[in-house]
Amino acid sequence: MVGQRFIQLLVDHPQFEVTAVAASDRSRGKAYGDACTWRIGGEMPPAVRMMPVQPPTPPLDCDLVFSSLPGEMARETEGIFATSGYPVISNSSAYRMDEDVPLLIPEVNHEHLGLIKRQRYESGGFIVTNPNCSTIMIAIALAPLHAAFGVTAAAATTLQALSGAGYPGVASLDIVDNVLPYIGGEEEKIESETTKILGRFVEDRIQLASMAVSAQVHRVNVTDGHMAAMRVKFARKPELNELREALASFRSLPQELGLHSAPAKPIVVREEADRPQPRLDRDAGQGMTVTIGRLQEDAVLDYRFVALSHNTIRGAAGAAILNAELLIALGHLRWSAQ
Ligand SMILES: NC(=O)c1ccc[n+]([C@@H]2O[C@H](COP(=O)([O-])OP(=O)(O)OC[C@H]3O[C@@H](n4cnc5c(N)ncnc54)[C@H](OP(=O)(O)O)[C@@H]3O)[C@@H](O)[C@H]2O)c1
Repeated sequence: MVGQRFIQLLVDHPQFEVTAVAASDRSRGKAYGDACTWRIGGEMPPAVRMMPVQPPTPPLDCDLVFSSLPGEMARETEGIFATSGYPVISNSSAYRMDEDVPLLIPEVNHEHLGLIKRQRYESGGFIVTNPNCSTIMIAIALAPLHAAFGVTAAAATTLQALSGAGYPGVASLDIVDNVLPYIGGEEEKIESETTKILGRFVEDRIQLASMAVSAQVHRVNVTDGHMAAMRVKFARKPELNELREALASFRSLPQELGLHSAPAKPIVVREEADRPQPRLDRDAGQGMTVTIGRLQEDAVLDYRFVALSHNTIRGAAGAAILNAELLIALGHLRWSAQ
């Protein structure tokens, strides 16, 4: 699912060209068009149809690697590419919590890229990761609130789309007319990744944000678009209009730099009582905007709201591509200055 999104988003990208594709031994040796059952809207781009699927081992004919391998095999494979001199822009969980690996959301923690100095291999390779698909949306929503009012606690209840489980994913007999209250490892990822992302880069390391984060996750019968019902407690409780303004006015470095995949607005706040909804709001900002609604005071913590974003775009391939665009803009890639 994520690989196809990468292809879709990269094929007309002004800075990147897809020069090689790699997958499992189920696909190797086949043309991409034969190996891949295209599952997203529109046609498979003709430029990749005849491309041979290769094993994920160096050398590959490319300047950087976008990885969306399953977590269990990503550690070894991504490590081999990085030690062989390739910048690896990963969407997998394998390296996200490593001390010297940036867990990057360009709008939230671009200063964490300082970690690259600590891990860069002699070959010039390094690894930059993007967060879990639900964590990205949660961290983007919390970032301007934490900066303005100090978040001390956040509780998230997610409703996650089927495409988040990859293809073929969840069996239809398990999910039709049903909700699954378990996604392996997901609650732990949201809880640990959020404090790293919102942490401060101090003297070459990340000081985790000191806030309590709690997550409960559910798989629901929706194709694309993860939702999180959030409750938040603050060090200084703002007025409701201050909260709304902090979210709606949030802009950051990617918007200033005009990066190709950066949405004009990272967060859109909707006032209608019945928004956000996956079908209506997942494509906001070409799938890169987080939509927030249902903002109101909460009787348990200070405020609550509902956030929604596109899990394979802002939550995966689009996130990794925005990371790579930022790396180029900030001169972290060999050919950045050319
Ligand atoms: N889906 C999302 O919304 C989302 C969001 C954020 C992060 N992620 C992460 O992104 C990764 C991929 O997720 P996905 O949803 O795209 O899964 P997927 O649809 O199951 O795709 C997995 C891909 O990895 C390849 N692969 C599997 N085993 C391999 C092996 N031993 N060697 C080489 N390639 C192998 C598969 O190759 P074949 O095509 O040959 O089978 C396939 O292309 C996971 O780590 C996931 O946690 C997913």
